[in-house]
Amino acid sequence: MKLKEARDIICQKFSEGGINNPKEADELVLYATGKSAAKTPDYTLKESEQMVLNELMKRRLDREPLQYIIGEWDFFGKTFCIGNGVLIPRQDTETLVEKCIDDNRQKSGMTVIDLCAGSGCIGLTLEERLPVSQLVMIEKSEAAFKYLEKNTDNFESDAKLILGDIFDGSVIKGLPKADIITCNPPYLSVEDMLPQNLQREISFEPFEALYGGQNGLDYYAEIARLYKGVLKKNGKIYLEIGKGQDQEVMTALIQNGYTNVRKHKDLAGIYRVVTAGVSDEYAD
Ligand SMILES: C[S@@+](CC[C@H](N)C(=O)[O-])C[C@H]1O[C@@H](n2cnc3c(N)ncnc32)[C@H](O)[C@@H]1O
Repeated sequence: MKLKEARDIICQKFSEGGINNPKEADELVLYATGKSAAKTPDYTLKESEQMVLNELMKRRLDREPLQYIIGEWDFFGKTFCIGNGVLIPRQDTETLVEKCIDDNRQKSGMTVIDLCAGSGCIGLTLEERLPVSQLVMIEKSEAAFKYLEKNTDNFESDAKLILGDIFDGSVIKGLPKADIITCNPPYLSVEDMLPQNLQREISFEPFEALYGGQNGLDYYAEIARLYKGVLKKNGKIYLEIGKGQDQEVMTALIQNGYTNVRKHKDLAGIYRVVTAGVSDEYAD
């Protein structure tokens, strides 16, 4: 079978299975054969390649995310290794990273702490784009931590990685004072997690990366309480939030004495990020 023919069959099957993105067929073909159907349409597939391609197609038709199948995904122009046990970096999260870069590009020698680091997509991107002299990333899940280590190695970062719980007092005690704290915590509610509300692909992702308690807000007030003392004067915290969580998260920060509490929209017009400082002197 020729490559173009195989690609078209996959495209057709995906479409019948409700996966309506032809790029996914292209990505799968490229991953399985190392060849692009657009550039080498007449390449004749070896039997072994056909078998592999067939197997991968079945996994995708079972709704396993393409990102897990191919083992990597791009975030802010960098490719991160990912797989079972780690959250797939989302475009939503680029809003937080973008805001953080915009706010801090004029600074120097900054210390950044990324809580709930997952693949490391937030921390490692900030380290590349900002004048960061020290990066600390904390992640509790051992499965996710393996990807964090791999990505940190791949990007030749000398970030300090902590396999631990962000709410553990002994972890917090050992942290340096930070100019920037970032966190994209789990924020789905019980209702969001119901099978009828959860996209099938998302159910492949780790529960502990998604579920944020009854109303999805469990992490915010605790982070606000425990991390205020970790921020330097004029430091700033950046929290990703779920749709409709802006008021509660802002209230948690205000009640914990933060200043300049602001919310920021993503490209779809949804409030996606809340930022706050710890000093009256800080201004946006
Ligand atoms: C929503 S994911 C975010 C991952 C990554 N920062 C990103 O934006 O793609 C949340 C991450 O927090 C981790 N996590 C959950 N509870 C934690 C805790 N108490 N301490 C440290 N990490 C935690 C999960 O394992 C998961 O990797």
